[in-house]
Amino acid sequence: MKCSSRRLRHVRRGATRTTSLNKGVRSVFSERYFSVLRSAFLALSSNASFRHFSEQSAAGRQVSQRFVAGMQPVEAISACQTLNREGMAVTLDSLGESVLEERAARASADVYHQLLDAIADRRLDANVSVKLTQIGMDIETAMAERIAGEILQHATAVDSFVRIDMEGSAYTEATLAMTERLHARPGMKGRVGTVLQAYLYRTADDARRLVEKGIRIRLCKGAYKEPPERAFPEKRDVDENYVALMTYLATSGVFCGIATHDERIVNTMRTFVRTHSLPKHMFEFQMLYGIRRDLQRTLVREGYKVRVYLPFGTEWYPYFMRRLAERPANVLFLAKNFLKR
Ligand code: FDA
Repeated sequence: MKCSSRRLRHVRRGATRTTSLNKGVRSVFSERYFSVLRSAFLALSSNASFRHFSEQSAAGRQVSQRFVAGMQPVEAISACQTLNREGMAVTLDSLGESVLEERAARASADVYHQLLDAIADRRLDANVSVKLTQIGMDIETAMAERIAGEILQHATAVDSFVRIDMEGSAYTEATLAMTERLHARPGMKGRVGTVLQAYLYRTADDARRLVEKGIRIRLCKGAYKEPPERAFPEKRDVDENYVALMTYLATSGVFCGIATHDERIVNTMRTFVRTHSLPKHMFEFQMLYGIRRDLQRTLVREGYKVRVYLPFGTEWYPYFMRRLAERPANVLFLAKNFLKR
């Protein structure tokens, strides 16, 4: 199936339509209020002082547990084993980003090497997700590529896989280009993939570009603050683009990850699988640790492959704030649970 540019243009033209209020959070907060809160959380996600204070405080660590599997690799491995026993695969994410010193970039890589050893030793059904700014992209592209290449070589040796997470749009082109170069190295075909974000206008072209090379894509909506020149401002258009991209990827012949908790989109995929007799082994649903566990389990029971993105580590703050930005009602939920203790 083609991801038609005409359809995407149509979606873009509709970008000014008023978004109707949905159930849940949107019935409480107006779309405008939701968008203000989202922007506030995303701005806070890059506030260094607030980050330092939160990551050091016991209360901060306590609330982070809602989305983070622990502070140490051993806790992440234990959570991974539990998910594996429940029939879910995992992608392990050692939290960290925007690293500005080579020593810190190397330290991040060391954790990934430990994780890959654990995947091999304990026969975990898991791979790893890495951010390029965590391994030195903001210092020097060549350094990040060297470190990514070493992680990839290790992953290949233990029959695993490296997913390069996608960060803000300032990194999109560099991330795609590095993934392509790593994938083209001898013996690395199918061992490295990246992520595309449905909120960016450019994503349909990027999807075609990666599919042509046989590079695996995780499709998500996108979690960063982007200007209207680069990304659909309206959620409704992001969702529509997501579905168009999802059906394109699902029939592309290249294994893909459908990363969303959006039940309407999951249902569209279920229907698409049925009506197109799509083999279930051609894709997997991917969800974040701690979000929609009910849906994760239901999909496993229905015979779908499900992979949980499992983050851990002391540098949980930016990841955590992005999760609050996606659903500001989480703040009320967290506050209620915190006060109950
Ligand atoms: P949407 O935001 O529309 O939410 C749909 C429903 O899901 C909500 O109504 C709620 O029920 C539930 N939900 C969603 N977010 C929630 C939250 N934080 N807390 C509680 N419930 C929530 N982004 C990126 O830019 N680069 C990346 O590399 C990745 N990687 C990635 C991996 C995986 C496995 C997933 C699932 C997601 C990502 N993302 C990401 C994040 C992604 O871009 C997006 O921000 C979130 O998945 C939220 O979007 P949804 O598709 O879930 O839909």
